[in-house]
Amino acid sequence: MRRGLVVGNWKMNGSLEFIENWISQYTAFLETQTETAICPPYVYISFLRNRLMTSAIHMGVGAQDCSVHNDGAYTGEVAANMLADVGCSFVIVGHSERRQYHSESNEMVAMKAQKVLEAGLRPIVCVGETLEEREAGRTNEVVLAQLNAVLDVIGPEMLVTGALAYEPVWAIGTGKTAIPEEAQEVHKILRDSVKSRNSDAGDSLRIIYGGSVKPSNAQKLFACPDIDGGLIGGASLKAEDFYAIAQAAS
Ligand code: G3H
Repeated sequence: MRRGLVVGNWKMNGSLEFIENWISQYTAFLETQTETAICPPYVYISFLRNRLMTSAIHMGVGAQDCSVHNDGAYTGEVAANMLADVGCSFVIVGHSERRQYHSESNEMVAMKAQKVLEAGLRPIVCVGETLEEREAGRTNEVVLAQLNAVLDVIGPEMLVTGALAYEPVWAIGTGKTAIPEEAQEVHKILRDSVKSRNSDAGDSLRIIYGGSVKPSNAQKLFACPDIDGGLIGGASLKAEDFYAIAQAAS
């Protein structure tokens, strides 16, 4: 039995005031059985973590990316061990916005996942196809290449310490969600591929879905046998919606 996991990716949104308001709104809700975490922009990680620690909310904090380097002359970069130092538990790697706007290759994503693990943190590895790739019937080929590049470096046993996120690029921030059957089909293909390397790892790996998840569609998506929760963008900015989505994964 896999425990539900719902992670909020705030992307480049938020402010100190926003975080204060989000926390005071979330405090009004009861705890959930689902494991939850929020990934704010780097500069707010410590503030969010400190505010959560002085609240009654049990929620992890993560980062949206990390460097492939440990330290040194890499202006603007943040290393995984620095993220561990400020109390992160998760790091998202390979988000499609990093692949698309920062030309991150499958190999670079795999190196980042390795750095996250070396820092003692849990990687959330994102895979997903573009609309063009889906329409050309290349979905499975694309997501399996993205997954296998990471598995070749870190192995299935280590991926299980974090999670795999399936995010069809055409569903991100567009309001277009994959219908549960479409998402389930890809999640099963991903799980079967991990299982073919290590059956136990494939069974226990949490595969979460991302792409316009909202309180209104979360229940149906999370009811699918291979969907174990969500990576939530826009809807995670509203504490009430994030909680409703987390509850749908419990
Ligand atoms: O990381 C989150 C995903 O990109 C989904 O974003 O919920 O705004 O579509 P969205």
